[in-house]
Amino acid sequence: MLKLSPQADIAFCYAPGKVILVGEHAVVYGAQAIAMPIDVGIRVAISHLEKPLLVEGPVIRGVGPLFMGDVTVSRSSAGPGILKSALSYLVDAFGEPLKNLVMVVDGTLPPGRGLGSSASLSVALIRGIFRYFSWPLDDNTLKKHALALETIFHGSPSGIDHTVIIGERVIGFKRQSNEALVWPIKLKSPLKFVIGIVGPHDGTKNAVKELAERKKRHKEVYEGVFQGLNEIAKEMELALIDGHQASVGELMNISQGYLNALSLSTPEIEKLCAIARERGALGAKLTGAGGGGAVIALVDGNGADLQNAFKAAGYQCLMTEVFDERWRLDHSRGGLDG
Ligand code: MEV
Repeated sequence: MLKLSPQADIAFCYAPGKVILVGEHAVVYGAQAIAMPIDVGIRVAISHLEKPLLVEGPVIRGVGPLFMGDVTVSRSSAGPGILKSALSYLVDAFGEPLKNLVMVVDGTLPPGRGLGSSASLSVALIRGIFRYFSWPLDDNTLKKHALALETIFHGSPSGIDHTVIIGERVIGFKRQSNEALVWPIKLKSPLKFVIGIVGPHDGTKNAVKELAERKKRHKEVYEGVFQGLNEIAKEMELALIDGHQASVGELMNISQGYLNALSLSTPEIEKLCAIARERGALGAKLTGAGGGGAVIALVDGNGADLQNAFKAAGYQCLMTEVFDERWRLDHSRGGLDG
């Protein structure tokens, strides 16, 4: 295996964001979901703090669009306390070697928009630490640490976010008695999405907790909706395999109806879905936790018209495309085979 040069004293790692095509929330209750990686993500550079030390390490330092000041175990200048807990986990897990490490976090993935920023950050950090020390990292170890960090960020995550981010391809995902069933979905044709960004949501943890409260009041009704979403996921999987994009879009629209029924939509999300459909998108829905975040619209052209329409309405947007099998970077070895 190729060793990182000890003279370099820096390691770079990357993890993409994700979108859920169907099954967010329902997946927490055992329904099937489908997710895919997107073309924006989080980069992490790991190095040693320059001397004289201004702060005691290890430090997570958010820069650029992910600016959050310096987060250390003993203090958090700007970042939310949750990052401090994540850092404490890393210190407990890896101990002394982490002392005086600085983990600089940058990227193009907007946080709090249902695009998997916490899972992307978790995966990039773990990969970065292992790479910095030239420790071998297998997928199971990566998944174990990523799930632990996601649990700090989200409470009780289904695990779909970090699983798709690690796998870097379209997956089917289902939780069954605490086991995650994960399988690849082979696309017949590439999928192109315009992602419209609305305001940040109130946190996945809160969204999942509040839905659980609503479910207590209408248990059978909620279970019926989850069953409906499970059927959509099964049909969508076949449509993806057969390359029936119109059908995928139609199923996204139905799924948005269910998500609205679960009180996860907002007027802004409905507005962006309406703009997308008026502009000929095959389907549009919210993605992730809901209550804000982002709308994904499946397009069959280049998506330029829809991007302009979102911008004209005052919303930022991103484009993303997914192929049958993305080129999977070998992050543990930095893509180079020694
Ligand atoms: C968040 O991206 C997806 C949710 O279903 C939560 C989870 O699955 O852990 C809302």
